[in-house]
Amino acid sequence: MSTERQAMPSAIAAPGFASSDDASRKAKETTLLSPRFYTTDFKAMDAIDVSPVRAEWDAMMAEYEGDNNHDHFQRDAAFGEEARASLAALTPELRKEFVDFLITSVTSEFSGCILYNEIAKHVDNPDIKQLMRFMARDESRHAGFINQSLRDFGIGIDLGDLKRTKRYTYFKPKYIFYATYLSEKIGYARYISIYRQLERHPDKRFHPIFRWFERWCNDEFRHGESFALIMRANPHLLQGGNKLWIRFFLLAVYATMYVRDHTRPMLHNAMGLDSTEYDWQVLQITSEISRQVFPITLDLDSPAFRAGMNRLVHLSRSMQAAQERGGVIGQLQRAGYAVAAGWTFLRLYTLPVKSHDLPQQVRMQPAW
Ligand SMILES: [Fe+2]
Ligand SMILES: [Fe+2]
Repeated sequence: MSTERQAMPSAIAAPGFASSDDASRKAKETTLLSPRFYTTDFKAMDAIDVSPVRAEWDAMMAEYEGDNNHDHFQRDAAFGEEARASLAALTPELRKEFVDFLITSVTSEFSGCILYNEIAKHVDNPDIKQLMRFMARDESRHAGFINQSLRDFGIGIDLGDLKRTKRYTYFKPKYIFYATYLSEKIGYARYISIYRQLERHPDKRFHPIFRWFERWCNDEFRHGESFALIMRANPHLLQGGNKLWIRFFLLAVYATMYVRDHTRPMLHNAMGLDSTEYDWQVLQITSEISRQVFPITLDLDSPAFRAGMNRLVHLSRSMQAAQERGGVIGQLQRAGYAVAAGWTFLRLYTLPVKSHDLPQQVRMQPAW
């Protein structure tokens, strides 16, 4: 009952999202930019051997077991009050971008929850099973916590329905490792960058959820560590032709975030951030961390790389505009921009990358 009473009148709450159905529709979208749900080859997951990194693995498992965030994802008494007051003060455009951010975030948190749960259920390998259970535990808390904030808007998402009805993408285990490692680490870098910014400028903390980001992002950091250890225990994943896959996933994950974040200028602005500067900072942090596992990093400082990423933003906006224009002309224009975006991605992919040796000790501390 309390959720009903606390819900804001939805038309005021979030323009473009009048009901839970609208929010669920957004969460179910399958586009290049939207978070996906994954399934994989569970037999191959079962065969993963982590014994080459046993000491670091066991230390990490002890951290999961210790569960230092077990009491973190609970709203204090002031949360609901503060959330509702701050939402009422936001402009409609900012509210729309913020809700969009919450829906994307809850979808990716829940995506991790489902994937890790499914792997845990389907493998017998005790190391992988235990890890996946711990990570599913964390992601389920994260998703539930964000969903409570959507309920404040009157647009909470039915996660059970989302699980049943959203489309799943099949990825081989090694693609899961590359992509999930990166999304966990990028998640850490995003949350900690926002947290640090709002720590410096508390007047710009327009919603209480941001206060939770510091301890939250340490979970994401640890999830990334787990995939780093799995890959380092299986060095063939990091050599030869697989380096081309690593390069592909680095670019795909970075470009997706960069383009998506540029659809939310007001959200960043409200936090005193500029989307472009914020994203380069997040990518620098992610890239620095990724040296623990990947033998190559993209040259983020190269002017050609930055120009290509900006071109992707420009093309994505043009595609959106053409789609809104509609009709045959709109469709043709959209197809033209899509080809140009594919070409730009390919050119970015062929730019020189930086190679380096991997450190002896894999694990790192979340020190940003
Ligand atoms: Fe998470
Ligand atoms: Fe995570």
